[in-house]
Amino acid sequence: MSGISTQAPIDPALDLFDEIERLKHERKAVILAHYYQDPDIQDLADHLGDSLDLARIAREVKTAEVILFCGVHFMAETAKILNPEKTVIVPDLEAGCSLADSCQADQLRAWKAKHPEHFVLTYINCNADTKAESDLICTSSNAAKMLQSVPKDRPVLFVPDRNLGAWLAKELDRPMDLWPGTCMVHITFSERKIIELKARHPEAKFIAHPECEEQVLRHADFVGSTRRLIEYVTDSPEQKLIVGTESGILHCMHKAAPQKELIQAPVENVGSCSACSECPHMKLNTLEKIYLALRDLQPRIEMDEGLRQRAAIPLKRMLELS
Ligand code: 13P
Ligand code: SF4
Repeated sequence: MSGISTQAPIDPALDLFDEIERLKHERKAVILAHYYQDPDIQDLADHLGDSLDLARIAREVKTAEVILFCGVHFMAETAKILNPEKTVIVPDLEAGCSLADSCQADQLRAWKAKHPEHFVLTYINCNADTKAESDLICTSSNAAKMLQSVPKDRPVLFVPDRNLGAWLAKELDRPMDLWPGTCMVHITFSERKIIELKARHPEAKFIAHPECEEQVLRHADFVGSTRRLIEYVTDSPEQKLIVGTESGILHCMHKAAPQKELIQAPVENVGSCSACSECPHMKLNTLEKIYLALRDLQPRIEMDEGLRQRAAIPLKRMLELS
């Protein structure tokens, strides 16, 4: 992967918001953003969503010629797989994902060769070549439905998030083999500190993303995808909530329910430095890089057509079943 598109300096006098708006129309571009993006990026996006929403929206883009994807690489790659006619650009090609890194396609191929009877259910947080080795893709908002679609007599390998897999297996009472991947952000939440926080705020509900560790999820009053967590904050009568996911989500939660008190779930200190609940990959995207990407139509997501077609099969199966 290479870095941002150009070394040409940006004129400091430019109003980046105006320039992005101007270039968006000039390039016939649409901006998609995930809830973990910085507030400014969320606010300028045409569409905001969780992984499933963004995949569906990307597939439906018709008149725009360019999709600028503000999220991480596997999300933009999914947009390209589902809508290959469009030019898909990203602010920074280096914005990856620890889950995607944890399962390379050749590792999965080797596992499958030893366990040919298994059905491979793969979380969307993976690279295209890992998707191409999978029977079905899921996201955190449709994982239960996807697992229920797998014949009961088939053993299942869940790839690559062991925490989402373990939560799902428990919810549906269906044991699965779990790939040992984790999200570098969600594993940092501290069970000890969450217990203390709940004791100090007994009226608060704790809501969490299923990528959190089992010992954290067992204290959650509600577990769901990013969109479901936002819906819970907006729709439930609770006035005080402890939020166990990446901190970028608090921006749209505050906008959706300004009267509610939201407390970021605490993380464990790592060594001498304090960990934080920000995804370093998501946070690589900036207004400057968005401006450059629209100006230069770079960096682009490019993919071998054979690989794209193979990765599209389990993805489209998911969209048909959702
Ligand atoms: P969602 O599908 O819930 O938005 O999750 C994406 C993600 O990367 C969470 O870390
Ligand atoms: Fe990947 Fe975790 Fe970042 Fe989500 S928060 S993109 S799972 S590293």
